[in-house]
Amino acid sequence: MRGFWILVHVLGFTLWLGGGIATMVAGLSAKGFAPAERLAAYKLIGAIQRILVGPGAMAVLLSGLVLSMPYMKQGAVPGWMGLMMIAGILGALGAVTISVPTAAKLARLEVDARGGLPEAFQALRKRQIFAATIAGTFGLIAMFAVTLGRW
Ligand code: HEM
Repeated sequence: MRGFWILVHVLGFTLWLGGGIATMVAGLSAKGFAPAERLAAYKLIGAIQRILVGPGAMAVLLSGLVLSMPYMKQGAVPGWMGLMMIAGILGALGAVTISVPTAAKLARLEVDARGGLPEAFQALRKRQIFAATIAGTFGLIAMFAVTLGRW
């Protein structure tokens, strides 16, 4: 059964962090687009966040909690594992509670009457960049902890 939960764990952070990097690349590439095309890119980003990042982060949390049961019972959690757990929990919560809902709001925006970006766009985009950077950084800290942090 442990193998199954490790699989869910690995699939989860692949979807979460992969989707996060795809979001970053798509958002940056769309910067030069005309308003209507730029908003269309944010509709795709919304789908990436909703279908890949959200479920991926939830899968990491769920499988991480299941995998940590034996360590909790023993009361002996190695340092790298503690760091992975704390950074992973903070990152996944940031992704699910701020990043995914903000991406959903951006995905619903339409061009204004003059064919420009709507007023709400810049503020939502700043919130998205902030939340996704924090969540992604915590995800990467967890990844470094479970690899380089074991030495
Ligand atoms: C993005 C965040 C995370 C990444 C990249 C990550 C990565 C990994 C990796 C690669 C392993 C396999 C380690 C091995 O067996 O050699 C692992 C195992 C594990 N993870 Fe995570 N993890 C993350 C978040 C979490 C969270 C949030 C928790 C707990 C709440 C958690 C708890 C565990 C536990 C208990 C194991 C099993 C360790 C063992 O028995 O060897 N992880 N994780």
